[in-house]
Amino acid sequence: MAAIIFMEVEMAFRNIRLQGDPVLGKKCREITEMTPRIRELIEDMLDTMYEANGVGLAGPQVGVLKRVVVIDTGEGEGPLVMVNPVILTTSGEQTGDEGCLSLPGKAGTVTRPDYVKAVAYDRDMNQFTIEATDLLARAICHEVDHLDGHMYTELVQGSLRDVSYDDE
Ligand code: NI
Repeated sequence: MAAIIFMEVEMAFRNIRLQGDPVLGKKCREITEMTPRIRELIEDMLDTMYEANGVGLAGPQVGVLKRVVVIDTGEGEGPLVMVNPVILTTSGEQTGDEGCLSLPGKAGTVTRPDYVKAVAYDRDMNQFTIEATDLLARAICHEVDHLDGHMYTELVQGSLRDVSYDDE
């Protein structure tokens, strides 16, 4: 008798905390072991990021003060999950638009490194190193800042702009 395997496809979305919520200004704690709860958190963060058409999402943005971020620049690489990410080296400079799911409808000009080398753990707590340029480098810097309680608005040159939904 053939076994029938049912795939569980359950989407779960978490509320995205908005700028002004104190949780966004706090420093996150490292994740010391992978647990079912943290796996669920990561899955929910991915669902929430894709649902909101975001490029990245960090733990505190869903109210969890743990050092975990998810990123997908939409360039076909698929989701990047980084547990306890640490930026090792940066170089170069890029200046461009940045936005954040915690500040919908706004964008601002931010200068970031153009190259980032970082180390992190994946969902199975295997350590990996990543080298990134362009948008991915920008996204890693933006998300790691969230883990230390920082928003991109602290770095904006000039003033924030209103953007329509289609521009985001
Ligand atoms: Ni953000």
